[in-house]
Amino acid sequence: MGAGIAITGCGSAAPESILTNHHLAQMVETDDEWINTRTGMKNRHIAAPTESLSQLSAIAANKAIAMAGISPIDIDLIILATSTPDDMFGSACKIQGLIGASSAVAFDLTAACSGFLFALITASQFINTGVHQNVLVIGADVMSRWVDWSDRTSCILFGDGAGAVVCQRARENSLLSFGMYSNGSQNDSLNLNYHGQDKPLVDGITAQQGSYNPISMNGREVYRFAVAKVPEAISKAMFQANLTADDIDWLLLHQANQRIMDAVAKRLKIPSSKILSNIAEYGNTSAASIPLALDAAVRDGRVKPGDTIAASGFGAGLTWGSAIFKWG
Ligand code: COA
Repeated sequence: MGAGIAITGCGSAAPESILTNHHLAQMVETDDEWINTRTGMKNRHIAAPTESLSQLSAIAANKAIAMAGISPIDIDLIILATSTPDDMFGSACKIQGLIGASSAVAFDLTAACSGFLFALITASQFINTGVHQNVLVIGADVMSRWVDWSDRTSCILFGDGAGAVVCQRARENSLLSFGMYSNGSQNDSLNLNYHGQDKPLVDGITAQQGSYNPISMNGREVYRFAVAKVPEAISKAMFQANLTADDIDWLLLHQANQRIMDAVAKRLKIPSSKILSNIAEYGNTSAASIPLALDAAVRDGRVKPGDTIAASGFGAGLTWGSAIFKWG
C-alpha cells in the first residue's frame, strides 16, 4: 500500500432544538432582516442541558465509520478538534469509549474554527508516515455554552454541532495540498479567555481559580482578516497542487458568514454556485462547520466521488488553513 490518504466516510449530528432569528429578536435588540442580510443565518441548533459534545460527536463518528464500510475497532487514531470539550482534560477518549474504538489512541486538538482542517492535516501526517491506517477526525463544538447571550454582536452567530470524517491509507493521495497558518499578534480579536480570582493557599503562595469568560470578538477585524487570508491560503494550495480555479468543483469554507464565503469565492473567481453552504440552518458551529457542510453535500449527492474540494478554515488564534482534497 502506498503512502496516501483517502477520505472515505463522513457523518454529522446536530441538536434538535432550533433557535431562530425571531427567537434572538426576543432576547436582544436585533431582527431577522439584519441577521439574515449581514450573515445569511436563519437558524442555529442549540444543545439541550442533557446533551453533550461527546454524544453528538459519537453519533457523527458512527455515521462516518459506517459510510467508510469499516467498524469502530478498525480505527487506530481519533483526533477531536474542539474548543468546547465536556472535560478540560479532553473529550476524545470519552468518544472513543462511546463508539467502542478500543484499538485507537485518542486526543483533542484545539485550533478554534480552524480545528477541523488542522486535525485533518494532522491525520494525514500520521497516515503518510505509515504510523496509522484508519483515522477518525471529528470537528465538534457547543458554542452555545460559551456565548454571551446578551451581546447582540456575537450571540447571533453561533450554534452547536458535530461532524466527522474517516481517513484511510490508500494507494493514491487524495489530499492534494494544504497549508496551516497563525498570527498571534491578532490574538485579541477573538477570545474565550480564562478569568480567575486569587486564592491564597499559604503564606506567600497564591493560586488562582476561575472559569472562562464568554466569547469576546471584534467582528469587523475578524471579517477583514478572513476575506484577506482565506483566498490567499486557497490560492497557495491551488498553486502547490498545480490546479486553477476551474479545477475546483466545490468551495468548502468555514461557515462564519455568507458574505465572507461570497467574497472569498469572488476573489478566487470561483462561481458562487460552487459554494457549499449550510449557514442558514446551523450558523457558525466552529470546528464542526466544515464537516457538517461536507456531510450534507455528500449525502444529498452534490459532492460525488472524485470531486475536487477546496476547503478553508479560519478563526480564533488567529488561525487559518486550507486543504485541497478529492472526495472518496
Ligand atoms: N442586530 C442589529 N444591529 C446590530 C447587531 C445585531 N445583531 N449587531 C451589531 N449591530 C449594529 C452595530 O451596533 C452597528 O451599529 P452602529 O453603526 O450604530 O454602531 C451596526 O449594526 C453595524 O455593525 P458592524 O459591526 O459594522 O456590522 P457588520 O456589517 O460588520 O456585521 C458581523 C457584524 C459580526 C456580522 C460581521 O462583522 C462578521 O461576520 N464578522 C466576522 C465574525 C466572525 O465570523 N466570527 C467568527 C470567526 S470564526
